[in-house]
Amino acid sequence: MKIFVTRKIPKPGLDLLRKEHDIEINPFNRVLTKKEIIKNLKGKDGLLCLLTDQIDEEVIVSEPRLKMIACYAVGYDNIDVKAATKQGVPVSNTPGVLTDATSDMAWALLFSTARRIVEADKFTRAGKFNGWDPMLMHGVDVTGKTLGVVGTGRIGAAFALKSKGFDMKVLYVNLDKNVDLEKKIYAKKVTFEVLLKESDFISLHVPLIPSTYHLIGEKEFKMMKKTAVLINSSRGPVIDEKALAKALKKKWIFGAGLDVYEHEPKITKELLYLDNVVLQPHSASATIKSRTQMATLAAENMIEGLKGLIPPNCINPEVFKQS
Ligand code: DGY
Repeated sequence: MKIFVTRKIPKPGLDLLRKEHDIEINPFNRVLTKKEIIKNLKGKDGLLCLLTDQIDEEVIVSEPRLKMIACYAVGYDNIDVKAATKQGVPVSNTPGVLTDATSDMAWALLFSTARRIVEADKFTRAGKFNGWDPMLMHGVDVTGKTLGVVGTGRIGAAFALKSKGFDMKVLYVNLDKNVDLEKKIYAKKVTFEVLLKESDFISLHVPLIPSTYHLIGEKEFKMMKKTAVLINSSRGPVIDEKALAKALKKKWIFGAGLDVYEHEPKITKELLYLDNVVLQPHSASATIKSRTQMATLAAENMIEGLKGLIPPNCINPEVFKQS
């Protein structure tokens, strides 16, 4: 069968696909437009896409042969899953293989922001370090502080468990009680308001769905401690980025560490000029191991889906119950 891959991904995934099918890969090192995706999808049975591709109903119905969409990401808010289901097309994602990489990055952002690592690096490189200074680069403590985890799915839970070495009190917000976290690190399920008011560090690990859009805005920033640090490695639109820039500028909070942005790849301009925010280019899952495993997992899902079997990480298994 024929598969279109919307951008080059690590070779082991492409090799797996090539063994069984014909593949065509976007030859450019850039995100394709919707028009280009539709054009390239003509005559293809499978679509392997990225989180940067908007796979809406128009794309999905454009090729009647389409039998499988494999997303090279755990988050799939870019895909109209409802439309795919209506069309009888299974959709898969890549959960599990990026849990550690992403939760590690949330910690890297937390420390970089709390201890002003990026700002201090720039300062040192600029030749401004004139010797030990009792007043230089004061940050906020991490050890023994209160950690607020918003969303305790795979990544949020892994992030929370990693706080053990820092002897932190862990508060969390989640739809369900997380018995494992409560048992292992005495995490406490609280209301969103309590988490915002009591946490020294708040880390977001929710999917982007209508109820999480702008979950953090001006009102929420005003509830946080002046010394709070906000970390986002989930999806950009979970934070109202304009409100974040205002909160950082007016020092309503101590700082923020971001891997994702509301209008990716655009970033609210003010953030670029602020020292109390650490910016990553949506690279939380970017370790050699994770990105390679994401590629092989996406390929395995594609291969199973094209056989007419339920892919291991199918998001819409109801497709197989229809007909
Ligand atoms: C995902 O897989 O959803 C991540 O955002 C990729 O970095």
